[in-house]
Amino acid sequence: MHTDDGDAEAPLRLALGDEDATRSLAAQLASALLPGDLIVLEGPLGAGKTLLAGALVHALGVPEDEPVASPTFALVHEYEGPSPLLHADLYRLGSPEEVEELGFEERRDEGAIAVVEWGERFADVLRPDVVVALTITGDSSRSAQLRAESERGVALLRALGAQTR
Ligand SMILES: Nc1ncnc2c1ncn2[C@@H]1O[C@H](COP(=O)(O)OP(=O)(O)O)[C@@H](O)[C@H]1O
Ligand SMILES: [Mg+2]
Repeated sequence: MHTDDGDAEAPLRLALGDEDATRSLAAQLASALLPGDLIVLEGPLGAGKTLLAGALVHALGVPEDEPVASPTFALVHEYEGPSPLLHADLYRLGSPEEVEELGFEERRDEGAIAVVEWGERFADVLRPDVVVALTITGDSSRSAQLRAESERGVALLRALGAQTR
């Protein structure tokens, strides 16, 4: 049956009134993610990219007592959930070749889920499914705009939209 629920390719905009709202977005994303998905998180320093990534890692089944810190120096941290989870921060990387060497493509083929901070500069190499753009709107409030960048991303946002409505 066809249900008219709007343009599935339109970005999904959410107000995140406090940290818990960001955590529940992470939980909703986690339940819609599939092996091989790659999500890019964009937004300025302090926007909440690492908080969202950490909440996502925990929502995907990594124990809460395992802290998720910014992988600024290591570039990529790996966690064991039901699927391998890669949390990357590419702030320090300068060239697409360096990004290619990190091997996201191969890891996705093996079923890893990846969450990448500062990845928008390398979108051509990373081929994200969804980009989550965070904006600082107040001391404890943020807004999120989620846009699909692949066919899989469209399906992912559709699943997410059904939850957040
Ligand atoms: N609604 C919110 N969502 C996410 N983080 C928030 C929110 N409100 C306040 N914060 C704070 O903003 C900061 C975000 O830091 P972080 O996640 O490291 O940002 P980034 O990785 O984007 O630089 C944290 O100190 C967090 O406590
Ligand atoms: Mg960060």
